[in-house]
Amino acid sequence: MKKSMQMDHLTLGVCYYPEHWPESMWAEDLDRMLAAGITVCRVAEFAWSKFEKTEGVFTFDFFDRFLDLAEEKGMKVIFCTPTATPPAWLTEKYPEVLNAFPDGTLVRHGMRCHCNHTSPVFLRLCARVVEEIAAHYGKHPAIIGWQIDNEINCETNLYHSESDSLAFREYLKRKFGTLEKLNQAMGTVFWNQEYTSWDEIFVARPTLADSPNPHLLLEQKKFISESAIAFFKLQADILKKYRKPGDFITTNGMFGHLDYLELNRQALDFITYDSYPNFAYSMGTTNANASAAGKLKDRSSGLSLSRVRSVSPNFGIMEQQSGGGGWQTRLTQPAPLPGQLRLWAYQSIAHGADFISFFRWRTCTVGTEIYWNGILPWDNRDSRQLGEVKRLQNELQGLSGLTGGKYKAKVAVGYHYQSEWDGEGDVFHGPLSGPSVMNWFYACQISHTPMDLLCLDRELTLEALQGYELLVLPHIALLPDSLCELLEAYAAQGGRVIFGARTGFKDEFGRCPMRPTPGAAARLVGGTVREYTLVPEDRPASITLFGEELPMPLLHEVLEETDGEVLARYHGAYYDGSPAVLRKRTGKGEALYFGGAFSEEAAFALLRYAGLTEACGDDLLLPPEIEYAPREKDENTFRFLLNYTGKPQPFLCKKPFTDLLTGELHSGEAVLPPFGVMVLGE
Ligand code: GAL
Repeated sequence: MKKSMQMDHLTLGVCYYPEHWPESMWAEDLDRMLAAGITVCRVAEFAWSKFEKTEGVFTFDFFDRFLDLAEEKGMKVIFCTPTATPPAWLTEKYPEVLNAFPDGTLVRHGMRCHCNHTSPVFLRLCARVVEEIAAHYGKHPAIIGWQIDNEINCETNLYHSESDSLAFREYLKRKFGTLEKLNQAMGTVFWNQEYTSWDEIFVARPTLADSPNPHLLLEQKKFISESAIAFFKLQADILKKYRKPGDFITTNGMFGHLDYLELNRQALDFITYDSYPNFAYSMGTTNANASAAGKLKDRSSGLSLSRVRSVSPNFGIMEQQSGGGGWQTRLTQPAPLPGQLRLWAYQSIAHGADFISFFRWRTCTVGTEIYWNGILPWDNRDSRQLGEVKRLQNELQGLSGLTGGKYKAKVAVGYHYQSEWDGEGDVFHGPLSGPSVMNWFYACQISHTPMDLLCLDRELTLEALQGYELLVLPHIALLPDSLCELLEAYAAQGGRVIFGARTGFKDEFGRCPMRPTPGAAARLVGGTVREYTLVPEDRPASITLFGEELPMPLLHEVLEETDGEVLARYHGAYYDGSPAVLRKRTGKGEALYFGGAFSEEAAFALLRYAGLTEACGDDLLLPPEIEYAPREKDENTFRFLLNYTGKPQPFLCKKPFTDLLTGELHSGEAVLPPFGVMVLGE
């Protein structure tokens, strides 16, 4: 369920670790933050031992002193539950709480996120520490909200402990009831994998060729999501008993094997995200290549922000990278260039954020992250980053009317958790999605076509779809039949749907039912898939669509029309001349079936076909280097223009606009400076 953060003004925050610094520094730190416009601190997410240094003995004085000081200074606080870093006494005494590697070796204390989310002991001890914290601090006036855990499923999203296997069996019993039904659903007849007792079932253990039963592996990922949600719900239910009215409950980041809409539905008020666009510049990676992501670099982070927006249309950034760096051992990144901290803050705001909190106030002097640079360096002197935060603070005054405004897109690209999880273990459809989605994002970015990601959630409504003129469902292998009915209604009322290859060829367990692909969508597109093949380099084939020759990478489906029309055929390969793209009109709209992965060129061609490029064309003429992102609030459009390059970018205002950040008027020719941002209003 979509749920938004509700702020009354755009707010700046910072991640602060009182436990990392002498107490004598706190007051000055808070003063310096406030002077820079930072009015919220997030604290305590790794501080379990400050509350429970030894088992069952709770102390609160440390954060009492911090919260009282914050209150005195006028600093607001987001308080965290510390369950991502259980103390050494806990994991030594109760090793069953630890996560394990697939071979059963326990993941030991010394890093973070080393526990499972299923062991009854861990759940009990987490519930207890959260209850103690919430009961003690819940009414503190400085607190405005709660973060549960930290980046769940980040360090790993797979769990292999004994308690996971025990809980997985219970999950399967609840879901299937009998072993017979389980065996049927999991296709265990293949290679003689039938289970004769629940005790024979484990979360995936090492197998030859790292290829466990794919249906059970998919089920395991659904179970991981369910366990994480239950872990959050356990904590959220406690926090709800003690929080003050209006204080929110959230968590940070978006990671694998977790259905965030379901998480929102069951436990949170909204989600926040941790934005690290500098990962695009990681040293020694392949980001410099010619892929769409490689070309967009930090601009490609907008795709992740679109995904956040699909869960919480207005969200917060709980951590925004403010320096370069990484760990002692990995995640090497150069320092962000002057202007990029400010640019990235606006990138998030443009995409729907109303709260930006920086990671972190000051670089830590100890531990794995001594190179993960904060706003201030170890030596505590003022930095250029602090200067950029101060500039932001001043500029945000001009955007006071924006808070709660919504990013406005006419194109949505759908995603589907179960299809993604299945695709991780299926090289015949999984690898199509990443490039296709990124190519659509690229084409939308370059052609100034605002784009949303849309979760194909079980509560998706026709009304939600009707907000879009074009819906792209790239490779939704496990497309539910019920969704096809909704899509049919959407098309009948004038919507346009484009499906990509491998749509709907699997059922909810990842089995291939004996019916033509794309399953229930076949009626909508007026045809079926006769056969498919991966495309080896020495057997390329292209298509001609709308008069343009387009590459078709990775996989081809040879189509056959029923009552649809053929829009494109293959050239080359043994299926030369066969249909590659179909279209069928339905009511006032239509559906297309595209029998391959989407190249950038194909995405551009289809956007042009839909007449959706240059959304700002009546007002502005922009070069491809500038991102255009509109947010709307009460009849007002806030047009964000973002320049991710180190070069000035000239553009044209077709009518007069005011840059709300500076009050400057622009009409006719204008220039967006290197790493520059403007927010144009009438
Ligand atoms: C985030 C995490 C922070 C810190 C940061 C930099 O993923 O939540 O605790 O580790 O990355 O590595």
